[in-house]
Amino acid sequence: MGRTSTLRVPVTNEDMDGRICLVTGATSGIGEATATALARLGAHVIVVGRSAERGEAAALRISRATDSASIDLRLADLSSQSEIRRLAREVLDAYPALHVLVNNAGVTNLRREETVDGIESTFATNHLAYFLLTDLLCDRLIESAPARVVNVASHAHTFGRLEPDDWQSEQEYSAMKVYGGSKLANVLFTYDLARRLETKGVTVNCLHPGAVATRMGRNNGWLGVLASLLMKPFFASPAKGARTSVYLAASKEAEGVTGRYFVNCKPKETSERSRDAVLSKQLWDESRRLTARGGA
Ligand SMILES: NC(=O)c1ccc[n+]([C@@H]2O[C@H](COP(=O)([O-])OP(=O)(O)OC[C@H]3O[C@@H](n4cnc5c(N)ncnc54)[C@H](OP(=O)(O)O)[C@@H]3O)[C@@H](O)[C@H]2O)c1
Repeated sequence: MGRTSTLRVPVTNEDMDGRICLVTGATSGIGEATATALARLGAHVIVVGRSAERGEAAALRISRATDSASIDLRLADLSSQSEIRRLAREVLDAYPALHVLVNNAGVTNLRREETVDGIESTFATNHLAYFLLTDLLCDRLIESAPARVVNVASHAHTFGRLEPDDWQSEQEYSAMKVYGGSKLANVLFTYDLARRLETKGVTVNCLHPGAVATRMGRNNGWLGVLASLLMKPFFASPAKGARTSVYLAASKEAEGVTGRYFVNCKPKETSERSRDAVLSKQLWDESRRLTARGGA
């Protein structure tokens, strides 16, 4: 018998006992709420964060909230490809299986910044990290099938700027368009990967969590903090924002469903550009090039 999450997900989620789930960006917001819900369903949850202090605090909160001893913390700055590679190695060495990968960590940057690999930071963290971590863990997901990949995208994909002659926004930088472009990349990546894994027992879906009151944007100085505080009363709680991630990671209803975008636990159509086969191939090839050892 499946247990029902106390997050009041509108469908019954499966008992996740014995399932190993990894959630990135689980030190805050939607990721922490997702990790909490999965732990509550009985999963062994690998909490990924980049700060030891915030990571330990989040792991403790999740453990206390769920009364679960099955929470492990792994640290990696996902804007750095060498840290992603180290994280993947640690996960492959430490766990015999991986049933659910939730790519959730994300940022918005008001100003253009580059990562240690010399790549525009929003594109690197929000898209390339999803791409590279999934690639490195893919064989283990296939061996653990049935398995699920859940990519946290956004409605912002509809207004994103993603240009093959300017992947890294060197010619033009507008924070919201760059953020939206990275979320468009999440949707394109989801559709492409779902096709590639169709016969392998691994489903791949993405979602928009709604407008959720989290720490998103607070890395942008007082303006980011102010905007986030002003919007808070109008936004949903992280627990509510995590519902669709948890639904895709754990529900019976989502079993076997792949290559879809969900809002409020329901499939929804995405923008025309997100279904552009040429753009999809260009993005895949560029992501492969940028994450090949040696980086950009
Ligand atoms: N909030 C919304 O309304 C909304 C709407 C649509 C989509 N989303 C998507 O939801 C996802 C979660 O965001 P959120 O709203 O929950 O924001 P959040 O509270 O700011 O959480 C973001 C998480 O990502 C982590 N992170 C950021 N950069 C990282 C890096 N370089 N390496 C490792 N971890 C990193 C953060 O870690 P730290 O704790 O170290 O900062 C944090 O755990 C994102 O993909 C976002 O695009 C959010």
